Amino acid sequence: AAPSPPPDLKTCSTATVTPGGPAVDYSCCPPPIPTDMSTIPYYKFPPMNKPRIRSPAHLADEEYIAKYNLAITRMKNLDKTEPLNPLGFKQQANIHCAYCNSAYRIGGKELQVHNSWLFFPFHRWYIYFYERILGSLIDDPTFALPYWNWDNPKGMRLPPMFDREGTSLYDERRNPQVRNRTVMDLGTFGKYKVDTTELLLINNNLILMYRQMVTNAPCPLLFFGAPYVLGTNIEAPGTIENIPHITVHIWTGTVRDSTFPNGDTSYGEDMGNFYSAGLDPVFYCHHGNVDRMWNEWKALGGRRTDLTQPDWLNSEFFFYDENKNPYLVKVQDCLDMKKMGYDYAPSPTPWLNFKP
Ligand code: C2O
Repeated sequence: AAPSPPPDLKTCSTATVTPGGPAVDYSCCPPPIPTDMSTIPYYKFPPMNKPRIRSPAHLADEEYIAKYNLAITRMKNLDKTEPLNPLGFKQQANIHCAYCNSAYRIGGKELQVHNSWLFFPFHRWYIYFYERILGSLIDDPTFALPYWNWDNPKGMRLPPMFDREGTSLYDERRNPQVRNRTVMDLGTFGKYKVDTTELLLINNNLILMYRQMVTNAPCPLLFFGAPYVLGTNIEAPGTIENIPHITVHIWTGTVRDSTFPNGDTSYGEDMGNFYSAGLDPVFYCHHGNVDRMWNEWKALGGRRTDLTQPDWLNSEFFFYDENKNPYLVKVQDCLDMKKMGYDYAPSPTPWLNFKP
């Protein structure tokens, strides 16, 4: 094994909708950078003012919702006025597409940031920059993403702010089942649906959370996922990446193989496919809670600590910051949220009492 190097931007090519499947009909590669890869600097944390505090999405007030909508609207407007601006909404979604749908190759080998120990750090860096971009678009250096608090009964629904038609947080390419405060099932990959009561569903979700956070993840490799080897698709995700991270994606996206009104076949868009997930604003809210689970897991103590393998610590990614500057980042630099300038407003974790 070896640390996973940053993507080779020069060889970025066509992404595919599914592995070996049809091509995504637009480019997911980042807008051209003026420099050679080797001249891209390592990211340094800017001077910190007040930390950004991420709060549960279901508790957001109207003032926050308006601010968040405005930031996303401005981001979406960039798509129209400057399609190659890396801070635009589509460009930000394309980050996920390039890293996850076979667009990046390094020395001929495909890069994939899911199903392995790259999952948590990659997404932490991704939403770190995304949050800073949103804040800068509305001149609010303390702007923080909300988190979709699906590990708490009060958050086991699509957060209401995302279910308002006509707002920038709404996405038409969701499964209609997520609307109108329907309670989610954290345990299903979409194929089976059990007819049950809300109470049983919530109870089951809490038991599942206990299993993924406690029973099945007593040590780092089980929580984070297996070591990543470039060019392989080992599919050995950590407990939380698998459930409920993926199940929430599938629950939210359209039904695969169904037909869109325009006649196109659905590949699970938006949330149910890597290439399109970032086109649903709720994606970043979902990943806020995934990221928060990393903290909650470490807070359980004992052997539940960050990995110490140099291959993990020295793995690298590429991102643009809020000033459109390209940077390389390392996994080892995202382990201290205080340094990164954000934190989570606490929310109860009742699953701790749901030992099966
Ligand atoms: Cu990169 Cu939630 O997937």
